[in-house]
Amino acid sequence: MTKAQAKAIFVWGTVLSAVILLALTYNSLSQIPQRTHADRLDAQVATGKWVWQKHNCNDCHTILGIGGYYAPDLTKVMSYRDADWMRRFLNDPGAVWPASRKMPNLHLKDQEITDLIAFLSWVNGIDTNNWPPKPMAATASAGTVEKPGEAVYRAQGCSACHSIGGVGGHVGPDLTKVGSRRDREWIEEQLKDPKSHNPNSIMPSFAKLPEKDREDLVDYLSGLR
Ligand code: HEC
Ligand code: HEC
Repeated sequence: MTKAQAKAIFVWGTVLSAVILLALTYNSLSQIPQRTHADRLDAQVATGKWVWQKHNCNDCHTILGIGGYYAPDLTKVMSYRDADWMRRFLNDPGAVWPASRKMPNLHLKDQEITDLIAFLSWVNGIDTNNWPPKPMAATASAGTVEKPGEAVYRAQGCSACHSIGGVGGHVGPDLTKVGSRRDREWIEEQLKDPKSHNPNSIMPSFAKLPEKDREDLVDYLSGLR
């Protein structure tokens, strides 16, 4: 190879790489408004972001890769928790999720919670190319079709206190085979009024769940044998 040829490879190689890099950057940036649903970014979402910053939620939590790793990543939290659960949890985290690593009660105002839910729902809608990846336990069963009651179980955060198949908390009993020791009526009663079985129960009442959701949940649990 002559010196001139080496120089040509260097110059054109650099130019070509730079052009590809710029084209990909432009392509990524031009997709941002669409991928983030910029049209849904309203004043309430923006206020929710301020609440997030004011209380330093990302000291402990991560959103879109920014924040701490002490507590769960919240980028997609609104795809497995519903607004009702969020409201109860943010009002008093310890009562809903009494784990060893506790989220402090930040004494949020009702309006702040509403704004946060709007913000987290908007974040949840961002197309992140499936980031963050699902935990291994969730991916393992990805092929099986989820029962309606299973979705309610997830949305209501039952797994903060209960385990099924080794996944979940240990504040309440393991529910892997709950269907073989409790019948439908008993389970329904437990959901509506946990204190009817144990006057000192710390399990929250799910009496306010829509009838259909409670039925699905009872179907699901009584089928676990
Ligand atoms: C001092 C650390 C800390 C701060 C600050 C904090 N959290 Fe948490 N948060 C936690 C922990 C710890 C958990 C989970 C409990 C566990 O893993 O045992 C949690 C759980 C959550 C969950 C439930 C996650 C899930 O997977 O269901 C939500 C939602 C949440 N936090 C929202 C917030 C918001 C919103 C803020 C700010 C207003 C905030 N957190 C501030 C520590 C924190
Ligand atoms: C804050 C923790 C907590 C949460 C959240 C919770 N439970 Fe419980 N659960 C308990 C405890 C503790 C018990 C043990 C009995 C008692 O004290 O009421 C229990 C008992 C049960 C039982 C009876 C199990 C048995 O064999 O005796 C069922 C069924 C049950 N829970 C279902 C659920 C479902 C479904 C959810 C979500 C909709 C849920 N629980 C949410 C704490 C919780």
